[in-house]
Amino acid sequence: MKVILITGASGGIGEAIANRLAKRKHNLLLVARNESKLKLLAAQLARDYQISVKFISADLSKVGSAQRLFEETQTRHLEIEMLINNAGIGSGGEFANLSLQSELNMLQLNVSSLVALSHLFLQPMKARKNGTIVNVASMASFIPIPYMTTYAASKVFVRHFTQALTQECKPYNVHVMLLSPGLTKTNFNNAAGIENEIAKGLGAEYSGSTQTPDQVADELLKALDKRKHDIVSGRMNRMAARLVALLPNALVAKSFARSYRKKLGN
Ligand SMILES: NC(=O)c1ccc[n+]([C@@H]2O[C@H](COP(=O)([O-])OP(=O)(O)OC[C@H]3O[C@@H](n4cnc5c(N)ncnc54)[C@H](OP(=O)(O)O)[C@@H]3O)[C@@H](O)[C@H]2O)c1
Repeated sequence: MKVILITGASGGIGEAIANRLAKRKHNLLLVARNESKLKLLAAQLARDYQISVKFISADLSKVGSAQRLFEETQTRHLEIEMLINNAGIGSGGEFANLSLQSELNMLQLNVSSLVALSHLFLQPMKARKNGTIVNVASMASFIPIPYMTTYAASKVFVRHFTQALTQECKPYNVHVMLLSPGLTKTNFNNAAGIENEIAKGLGAEYSGSTQTPDQVADELLKALDKRKHDIVSGRMNRMAARLVALLPNALVAKSFARSYRKKLGN
């Protein structure tokens, strides 16, 4: 059976994408850690849209989890027509004070599992000469962000990896796309432990330009329809991305660090 695999589908942007794709009658495979949320969402989407919605609970911050997920799809004879690497987590605060293990787990999820899943699911897509891979980066991928140092760097990796892979996959008719959302109202800040104080320092508090996950999902689907390869969601974010591209990275990092310390009064 043909399905679209969405990682991080139990909430936020991933859940919004699942909703939109279900409405279009695509069969889905939802992946995240929270099994009860996945079960509930799968049942609701299957009932509302008369489609097949399967789920697999997996912790993609664990080494080997991407391989196990791939093997499970093989066992279940699922053909992944589109892979959406959306699962991701953030972290904020002074790098030296953060837990090293948490930072490494974040890299395993945001970077290594994304690479592993792209590699594994690309093989059958390449053989079929058909398929789509969407990787979710962030506005954070455009600049070095002090006090969000590792997260921002992980998204730079996703940006460069996806842009290069896009070109490699063209001869095989495998469409690769990069989605860079800006600040979006999800559980992200909470999961990253950057609500309140740190969010204030990072300028990551919700404002008028904050998008909803539904808005991000709508922009993604429109871009997929147009076979785009690289989109920043949100008009304000697109303007900001163009602006920072004109500035030297070191200057942007310096001003971020100054502003963070000033906002937090130290
Ligand atoms: N929200 C923003 O402001 C923003 C801005 C730019 C980019 N992004 C990117 O957008 C993507 C989605 O984030 P979101 O805003 O929707 O955040 P979210 O609401 O926190 O959702 C994150 C999703 O990833 C899953 N996840 C987290 N850790 C996981 C793990 N170890 N293994 C498997 N799944 C895991 C979560 O489910 P479980 O907890 O059930 O595992 C959840 O479904 C991320 O890649 C993020 O970097 C977000």
